[in-house]
Amino acid sequence: MNHKPMKGIVLAGGLGTRLRPLTRITNKHLLPVYDKPMIFYPIQTLVDAGIRDVLVVTGGNNAGDFLRLIGNGKDFGLDHMNYAYQEGEGGIAQALGLAEPFAKGHRIIVILGDNVIEKGIAAGIARFNRQTEGALVYLKKMKDPRPYGVPVFKDGRIIRIEEKPKTPRSSFAVIGVYMYDATVFDLIRNLKPSGRGELEVTDLNNAYLERGQLHHQILDGWWADAGESHEGLLEANLIVARTLRRKNARD
Ligand code: G1P
Repeated sequence: MNHKPMKGIVLAGGLGTRLRPLTRITNKHLLPVYDKPMIFYPIQTLVDAGIRDVLVVTGGNNAGDFLRLIGNGKDFGLDHMNYAYQEGEGGIAQALGLAEPFAKGHRIIVILGDNVIEKGIAAGIARFNRQTEGALVYLKKMKDPRPYGVPVFKDGRIIRIEEKPKTPRSSFAVIGVYMYDATVFDLIRNLKPSGRGELEVTDLNNAYLERGQLHHQILDGWWADAGESHEGLLEANLIVARTLRRKNARD
């Protein structure tokens, strides 16, 4: 398949209410995860995957801090960085909608700014590159998938994704790494706000499912959702620290 190069988008808006009072005076994606601000991890994941064109979508009162922190992306070997500003609290899919002028018809990789993964996403990209159209989500097996989007399977295929179900129908979480074709923005325009008044990424993925165009890849290595809770943030710090310690011992 001959595709144009993919573009990368990191979503870093929201009020971070689950991490209060840590987020009372800053955006949760700027909080430390061991030795780096949280948002460094998803940006690095994109850069490691060969993505050179990256957009950070943020919002709220601390948006300017992202510019001061990331600048033109020098820490990542980039010489340019793009920014967009989300007004209000419209949800992940609404934040993604702001990326339309940036995407300009390219396929995109979207990473939530609080998602930290151990290994890369090369396998998912390779699989997505074989698709002519549609979307790809990454799954990770969890002890308790209830705080996440959870896939329902039939005959090995996902038939539906349920957002934060009380009774999960599988033990997988849909993690915050998504790949979409250029039709994603039309699908976002057709989404309706959920019960909590937001455009949900799970509804977007379900829209691809209805077209029979949602594929999945199981994530290799650990995944930490650092913004999910104080416990999740602590866990992310510990797992990054342990991984670095092991790596330093080997080097
Ligand atoms: C979001 C998505 C959810 C996904 C999770 C991964 O939830 O809605 O489907 O599993 O990210 O981090 P949130 O963390 O915004 O509650």
